[in-house]
Amino acid sequence: MNFIGSHILSVTQFDRAAIDRVFEVADRMSPYANRQKVTRVLEGCILGNMFFEPSTRTRVSFGCAFNLLGGEVRETTEIKTSALAKGESFYDTARVLSGYSDVIVMRHRIEGSVDEFASASRVPVLNGGDGSNEHPSQALLDLYTIKKELAGHGKSIDGLRIALIGDLRNGRAVHSLCRLLGLYQDVHFTLISPPELSLGPEYIAGLQAAGHEVVRSEKMHAGISHADILYVTRTQEERFPSQAEADRYKGLFRLNQSIYTEYCEPNTVIMHPLPRDSRDNANELDNDLNENPNLAIFRQTDNGVLIRMALFALILDVADQVDDTARDVNWYTAKRF
Ligand code: CP
Repeated sequence: MNFIGSHILSVTQFDRAAIDRVFEVADRMSPYANRQKVTRVLEGCILGNMFFEPSTRTRVSFGCAFNLLGGEVRETTEIKTSALAKGESFYDTARVLSGYSDVIVMRHRIEGSVDEFASASRVPVLNGGDGSNEHPSQALLDLYTIKKELAGHGKSIDGLRIALIGDLRNGRAVHSLCRLLGLYQDVHFTLISPPELSLGPEYIAGLQAAGHEVVRSEKMHAGISHADILYVTRTQEERFPSQAEADRYKGLFRLNQSIYTEYCEPNTVIMHPLPRDSRDNANELDNDLNENPNLAIFRQTDNGVLIRMALFALILDVADQVDDTARDVNWYTAKRF
């Protein structure tokens, strides 16, 4: 895969060598993300961080990653403050914004919208999430987290046993992650969801064709035993025709410390792309798991900065220049990591 100047629209662009390259550069970003060193390698460079659907971590961590490389960020946070609300097309919007930026991240609720936007853009575009379709940078940070968590237990992604739980039909993070995991060997997937929210048959067929074992279940307790990773997801209520319909599925799968202790093997890692729905009628990952050392959700969000820095460095062809302008930080830095 040639990263330089490329759009990142789908995880189908990646093979294992490309993933390894992203992870190798991400590892090298650690002193900058940890606020031990500062680099100015992207000084003068501008990111257009165009989010037309709600986001906390993807938008802010893409912006943070770009700032940490020395670049500047311009952003939109919703449709109603952009000219899309006046009927402007993706074509015109992309032509305009790509005149103001060196690289663009875009999120929109319509599947395929980022591809359409990218085809008119004059600069590289990264998919920050298009409807229920794909979320490539989330899947890369999830895979990076899985690799690191498993390494701590002497395991690798090949042979992984993962249970994916919740709204697997609408979860774009799940879709992209399953495709990436499909590139590895002998992954055992347990898909836990109500039948109406099951993973699309095209994803299951792809995994089975690649030789992976796929088991489906409507019951969480049996499905989470013998898993290395639990990947819990939120009911994607914004994809449902009505709130009442989404509410039918809320709270179906609730994981708390007592269930974890009873059913999971020691050191089973708990992941979630976040946001977790912590309202009483959902509470999919209980707060009593917050002190569980195997709860990796905030290691995922921290890893997102490393992965997004790596993507920018590779696309803008500065991966091997980051250290050239490095200096130690001169301010107090809290120990975040
Ligand atoms: N995981 C994720 O995409 O979170 P945000 O919606 O907050 O960006």
